[in-house]
Amino acid sequence: MNRLSGKTALITGASSGIGKATAKELAKVGVNLTLLARREELLNELKDKLIEINSDITIEIIVADVRDRDDISIKLKDRVFDILINNAGLASGLDKIQNGDIDDWEKMIDTNIKGVLYVTKAIINGMIAKNSGHIINIGSIAGHQVYPLGNVYNASKYAIKALSEAINIDLVGTNIRVSSIDPGAVETEFSIVRFHGDSDRASNVYNGFTPLKGEDIAETILFVLNAPEHVNIQNILVTPTAQRNVYITHKEL
Ligand SMILES: NC(=O)c1ccc[n+]([C@@H]2O[C@H](COP(=O)([O-])OP(=O)(O)OC[C@H]3O[C@@H](n4cnc5c(N)ncnc54)[C@H](OP(=O)(O)O)[C@@H]3O)[C@@H](O)[C@H]2O)c1
Repeated sequence: MNRLSGKTALITGASSGIGKATAKELAKVGVNLTLLARREELLNELKDKLIEINSDITIEIIVADVRDRDDISIKLKDRVFDILINNAGLASGLDKIQNGDIDDWEKMIDTNIKGVLYVTKAIINGMIAKNSGHIINIGSIAGHQVYPLGNVYNASKYAIKALSEAINIDLVGTNIRVSSIDPGAVETEFSIVRFHGDSDRASNVYNGFTPLKGEDIAETILFVLNAPEHVNIQNILVTPTAQRNVYITHKEL
């Protein structure tokens, strides 16, 4: 049963990876889409693909940086959505704290935590006013277990786990659902960004096993969104079959 046709969704970080794949899945089931990211050209390319997938939906692009509090509040002012997917995020660097780059830390904290808060704040009151909506936060396995050199990225995703649980409590008594979907290793631009554009180092991360694809997480998001309104799937941890926790991945090298 398709319970999503005709709904409206805002997806942050829609220009790549999980966000892009999610836009395609939601287009297929007739969701009207607002796509937010910084790279306008990629959003426009995606818009063209989405029109090919489903010419009956509306597709809007918002070029914005989720770290820019004022711009986010202006561009999302008075906007009402049925679905918010807080997906924009990144890891930047992989170092011990004593060797870490403070600029990397600020990027992760400002994007992964503050960006989610700014966007959520802009949208949540519109959902409360109509007493319906679904917020999906993309957390991570890194928000369940810390791993060596993960420090600040881990902290940012532990924060998302806490916020997803806290916002669920804040919204008790409303019909608004809050879900955190927490992936293990997904092959996207994530590792290229983490290693500051070093694509050889990035592709090594996925050597020897089959990682998740953005589409795998998009299918999970679709399942969670399509549950009946009285069903609130609060958390799903999704890993590749080869990966059983943050440390244990079977690799055939
Ligand atoms: N890949 C994994 O293994 C993995 C595992 C667990 C969780 N995650 C989480 O999944 C989410 C999506 O990541 P991905 O794997 O799909 O990586 P990705 O391919 O690098 O996509 C990240 C998206 O976030 C957007 N973004 C980054 N900073 C932004 C900012 N300041 N303002 C607006 N948009 C911004 C990027 O768009 P622009 O650059 O165009 O702005 C891009 O669309 C992230 O929250 C990540 O932490 C990923």
